[in-house]
Amino acid sequence: MSSILQNFEAKKKSKICFPSEHLLIYIPGFENPRTKQWGEGDNLEDSNALRKVDLSIEFCGLEFQNPFLLASGPATARSEMIERAFDAGWGGAVTKLLGLKTRPSPHPYIAALTFEGKAIGLGNIDSIVYPLDDWLQKIENLKKRYPNKILIANLTGDADTSSWQEMTKKVQDVGVDMLELNLSCPLTGEERTIGALVGQDPKLTFKVVKWVKEVANVPVMVKLTPNVTDITSIAKAAEKGGADALSAINTILGFVGIDLETMEPKPSVNGTSAFGGYSGPAIKPIALRCVAQAAKSTKLPISGVGGISTWKDAVEFFLAGASTVQLCTAVMFKGYRIIDRLKGGVSDYIRDKGFNSVKDIVGRVLPKLTSIEKLDFTYQVIPQVDRFKCIKCELCRLACRDAGYEAIELDEEKLPIVSREKCGSCGLCAQVCPAGAIFLKQRR
Ligand SMILES: Cc1cc2nc3c(=O)[nH]c(=O)nc-3n(C[C@H](O)[C@H](O)[C@H](O)COP(=O)(O)O)c2cc1C
Ligand code: SF4
Ligand code: SF4
Repeated sequence: MSSILQNFEAKKKSKICFPSEHLLIYIPGFENPRTKQWGEGDNLEDSNALRKVDLSIEFCGLEFQNPFLLASGPATARSEMIERAFDAGWGGAVTKLLGLKTRPSPHPYIAALTFEGKAIGLGNIDSIVYPLDDWLQKIENLKKRYPNKILIANLTGDADTSSWQEMTKKVQDVGVDMLELNLSCPLTGEERTIGALVGQDPKLTFKVVKWVKEVANVPVMVKLTPNVTDITSIAKAAEKGGADALSAINTILGFVGIDLETMEPKPSVNGTSAFGGYSGPAIKPIALRCVAQAAKSTKLPISGVGGISTWKDAVEFFLAGASTVQLCTAVMFKGYRIIDRLKGGVSDYIRDKGFNSVKDIVGRVLPKLTSIEKLDFTYQVIPQVDRFKCIKCELCRLACRDAGYEAIELDEEKLPIVSREKCGSCGLCAQVCPAGAIFLKQRR
């Protein structure tokens, strides 16, 4: 058991009391393990020296210096940018979309979804496809300069054998490490045979992967779209076609908002817009679900992508079955420098949990993900309130009154008291508490 959990157990035993009528609990100095900030505010160099954590990982037979990759997008649109990212410490990069047929992008192509002043999601209509031939020299140069970094080509093409095979041969001949078949771009427009329109059809997915595998001598990863009813059917089709890995997910088809003043859709391109790709923190739960489903339904290694902004997000993707992770929107907002925090936080977490490498935690949560009818329906919880952390905001009482079981009242000091009899074990109060003052404990 980690030191944090031991501390937690000891404090639970010594400080908690259960009044008979109401649950009113004193937990002075209670340390919530969920809010412990590994890697944040710590001296990372010193703490890493405690025990070295191996961040390198083998993925499709390739040795990645660390599992953090720049996802295909604006941050990999120029080779000079990829060089800077490699210098900053990223383990690899996926090029912006390349194809034999180019395609322009409308402008502006991005608009953010904000919540309480913070961007939580990003809508884009960035439809650009760069000419593959223009990138061949760049790929060769990048690989010469950075032989130990992993460079992946993000490819799109018409659903015909020759274009996919031509692209494959061209990029592998100049030394690319791996291919990522973009069968998932939601910006397909009228072109019925590219991007997500292939990746939404298991038969087409199988065919394209098979064509590529016939000529590929580097690993082939298939990037999945979340815009399907059953992602496992596409993942299995890619595996059957011979894919070496899966990446999940590309953006979610969305419509990010409307400017109420002008009544124009966002991002407004001279007054009009189109449905586009939605990314960023808001899509993480969908991406995590897709990664776990892909991991459970195939034997392929997975590169997790979608809503990763912090090292904690990355750890969640590893636990859900990803062996490498890719970031796009977070880099667009915060730049390449976030790599230091990602590496430091993941290292500290792995060491604190008693493991040695990223590989040790990959997929650890998968056995705990089951179908709803297999859950323990006898399990019940009861909230405990840390009166010393409570800021008396009453949000828990309001939430329980209007969306729970009317189980919270306030005492004469305006501190919440939970009725054991009325509480329906829903867990809502602990989620709304802004002070982290409510913990759910198993009801005995
Ligand atoms: C502006 C923009 C452009 C993108 N272009 C590509 C692309 O060319 N090829 C691709 O496979 N994915 C592309 N993506 C999708 C990202 O690689 C990634 O799958 C998605 O944004 C989810 O990850 P995130 O939440 O970290 O951004 C793009 C995303 C954004 C926001
Ligand atoms: S767990 Fe649900 S029912 Fe119980 S006190 Fe909290 S909000 Fe109310
Ligand atoms: S929501 Fe949290 S901080 Fe606010 S009154 Fe309830 S326990 Fe106290």
